[in-house]
Formats: sequence, C-alpha cells, structure tokens
Amino acid sequence: FIHPVSLDNLEIIENGLMGVDAHGRIAFVERGVIGDLKIREVLSKWKVVVNGEEKVRFLTMGQFLLPGFIDTHTHAAQYPNAGTGRDLPLLEWLKKYTFPLESSFSLLSYAQKIYPIVVDQLLLSGTTTAVYFATIHLESSKYLAQVAYERGQRAFVGKVSMDCNAPNCLIEVVEESIKETESFVQYVLGLDPNENNDYDGEYERRGTRLVTPVLTPRFAVSCTSKMLEALGKLAKKYDDIPIQSHLSENQEEVAFVKELFPHIENYTKVYDDHELLNDRSIMAHGIYLSESERALIKERNAGISHCPNSNFTILSGVCNVRQLLDDGIKVGLGTDISGGSAKSILNAVRNAGVASRVISMSSSNNDNEMRQQPLSLPELLYLATMGGARLLNLENVIGNFQVGKEFDALLVDTVTPVDPAPFKVFEGIDDSDVLRMFEKFMFLGDERNLRAVYVKGRMVSGVEFIRNNKSST
Ligand code: GUN
Ligand code: FE
Repeated sequence: FIHPVSLDNLEIIENGLMGVDAHGRIAFVERGVIGDLKIREVLSKWKVVVNGEEKVRFLTMGQFLLPGFIDTHTHAAQYPNAGTGRDLPLLEWLKKYTFPLESSFSLLSYAQKIYPIVVDQLLLSGTTTAVYFATIHLESSKYLAQVAYERGQRAFVGKVSMDCNAPNCLIEVVEESIKETESFVQYVLGLDPNENNDYDGEYERRGTRLVTPVLTPRFAVSCTSKMLEALGKLAKKYDDIPIQSHLSENQEEVAFVKELFPHIENYTKVYDDHELLNDRSIMAHGIYLSESERALIKERNAGISHCPNSNFTILSGVCNVRQLLDDGIKVGLGTDISGGSAKSILNAVRNAGVASRVISMSSSNNDNEMRQQPLSLPELLYLATMGGARLLNLENVIGNFQVGKEFDALLVDTVTPVDPAPFKVFEGIDDSDVLRMFEKFMFLGDERNLRAVYVKGRMVSGVEFIRNNKSST
C-alpha cells in the first residue's frame, strides 16, 4: 500500500493487510503480515469471516493500492470540447467555444447523452472524488448529481450561477437563479437520505455523503454584486455546503474584475466582501494572487484548486504552488476540463510537475541553492489525494489509508497484460522495487493500469470491473 502521510512523506506498507468494514470504512491496517499462519492469525483477530464469498483479496507482484484520486475542479458540461479550442485565452475562449457548448445543456436530453460518459470516464481514470461545475440549467445539473450517485462516485456538484457578461441564453435573473439553486441543493441533499445512520460526528456525516451540492458563482466576471450577495446569503443559510468559483486565472480577467468592482481592493476581496470566501471555498487557479490576497485566503482557510493543464492550454500562466503551500494555503489538483485537455489526475500530476519545474528553472539564473525546489513525487501524490481531501474538508474521511477513513482506493497493476504494449514501460524493473514501480506509474502509467477503482469500499470501475460488468452494459 502506498499513501501520503504528510506533504513530503509517503509511506510504503509492504506485506500489509487492510480490513474494510461493511460501511466501507478502513477497520484495520496491519503491517508485516508474512506467511499463511500470520495471515490467518490477523484475519481471526479481526473476526474476518470468509464463508464462500471472496472477501479476502491478495495482491500479486507488481500490484499496489493507492488512495483514490481527487479532482477538485472540472466542468462536466465541457467534456465534449476537451482537447480542442486551444488557440484562445480565457475570455475569448469562453465566448467562442465554451458558452455555446454549455447552452446545449438547456436540453435535459443532451445532459443525458454526455454526463454518464463523463462520470464513467473520470472513474475509469481513477477519480474517486470529482468536484463538478455543471451549467446554469437546473434539470441537467440535477441529472449530473444523480448519475454520479448511481455510478457510485463521490461527487461535489454545482449548478452554475451567472447573470452578466455572457450570451443571453446563459444569463439568469438573480431571484429565479437563487430559487433554482436552492431547489438544486435540496434535491442533491435528498439523493442520499440515509447518509448518516451509522455516524455521529459532524465531519463523518459529511464524509459519508456520496454526493454534495456546491454553491457555484461562475466567477466575478459573470456575476453581479447582487448575485454574489444573494449567494453569500445562501452560503450562510446552508453553512455546511461548499462554495466553488474561479479566482485570478488570467491577467485580462483580473483587470476586468478590477473594472467591474472598482472600489474593491482586489479579486480575492470581491468574494470575501460578498461572504463567499471561507473554509468551504474551493477557488480554481489562483495564479496572480498578491501577497495580501494570499494572506486573506490563508486567514479565511479557503483553498486553491491547481489546474496546470488548463493553465498551459488556455495560456493563463504558471501557478507557483510551492509559494501557496509555503503560505499554508490548502491546495488540491484539478483537471479543469475543457480549459484543461485531459480528464485524468495522473495528467494533472505530470503537468503540476512540469509547472513547478518551469518555476524552479526561472527562479534563479545561476545559483542552484537559490532555486525553488520543484514538486517532488511524494508532494505530487499528496496533492492528488490528501491535498484534495483537505481542500474539501474531508481530511478525516478520505485521502490516505488511515484507519477510520473510508476506503476510496485504486488497485494499480503494473504487470498483468491487459493490453501488452503499454506495459512494456514497466519491464526492466524488479517487481519488488515498489518505489520505482510507483514512480513509473505516476509518470508513464495510465488507466489500463487501474485494475479496480473503489469508492467507500465498493468496486465501481477499473479494468476488472468493466470486464465483469460487460454483459450488463
Ligand atoms: N472562468 C470562468 N469560467 C471558466 C471556465 O469555464 N473555465 C475556466 N478555465 N475558467 C473559467
Ligand atoms: Fe474552470
């Protein structure tokens, strides 16, 4: 088992035995379980009953478990555009490619065609938790939450709010928008009515919820002060549901926000002044934040979703994640489809690595010691799992294999030849060299290496899951 214990420390548990209870919680992790006798002893100590059904699974050489990946920012509705429209920066890109696509979701039938594909594809790529923007459309947004719930993905879903600087078909009237948002929130909360039967703690109650509604002002450019204020009020009324938006992604955007809110000091304060910046806020990008903005984010305990593929693809800039981390700001990774071209967090890991290298190389010309260190492998794994969990205030629920957390996990297989060609990349490494195997997976592996994807202890995707469920799909 490979998992992060802190930002710069990953733990490799060899010869481990992990128990998952009927609620999908990790009941025990035993180390150094070698030999049949010891295995039997541990199983009986924990009263694991094996009666006919296969309840014990042994990993073979070249296989290991990772915590599930957490995508803290993506736009489900933009999935059809992923990989295209790479020629324009944010504001022009929204106008030319993104708004026209999003307007298609006024038809529920279009959502019914696209959203199941999105959820299935993200699960297949190892995204056990996804934080989604849908669109302004109530029925389509409800449908996205329903699909995530049915497919067994842990999901945060937001019906987008926007009332200016967009085509007419995507502009809402504040009062109606708020009514619809509230009805969306009620609907999503109701999807999981038995959510906390077995729990009494506050965070545990939230953690066991599979789908969570998110308040989603698109960004300060497309929301008037009236809209932001109304959403801030809603955030007070529903004081345990998260808030998501975009923040300081692109220089023209930052300048436009200054123009739209001339008496507010900076972009971050626009959200803060409307009571939308707090410990439940998930802000995408955060590239051009001033020192005082970072200090405010830290003070409010809000966090940043780092979306490096998107930042490169639509030419937004390079986010200095090391600086955010040094400031003590919560950071997770996001794919930001379709600003980002790729659906998988493995891709986000690689682009986060590249972004940090670009910053490192330009941080000092000649003095190696002055260079900012690029993100290390343990740090990248942390951002993809625990960092996301912290950003979502689920650090006591998911993110690693601590006993008591829920079992959201990936069974990685670097050996079994599902499709022989890609697995050649693992040849030449001794199966027992787990750390190198893991590194290769993070930088060269793909979804063909994901044998099983588990959420809350249930297998919900992966090569093996697809194979077993072929007849039904
Ligand atoms: N800012 C406002 N809307 C969007 C969007 O859809 N994608 C990205 N990347 N940034 C945004
Ligand atoms: Fe985005």
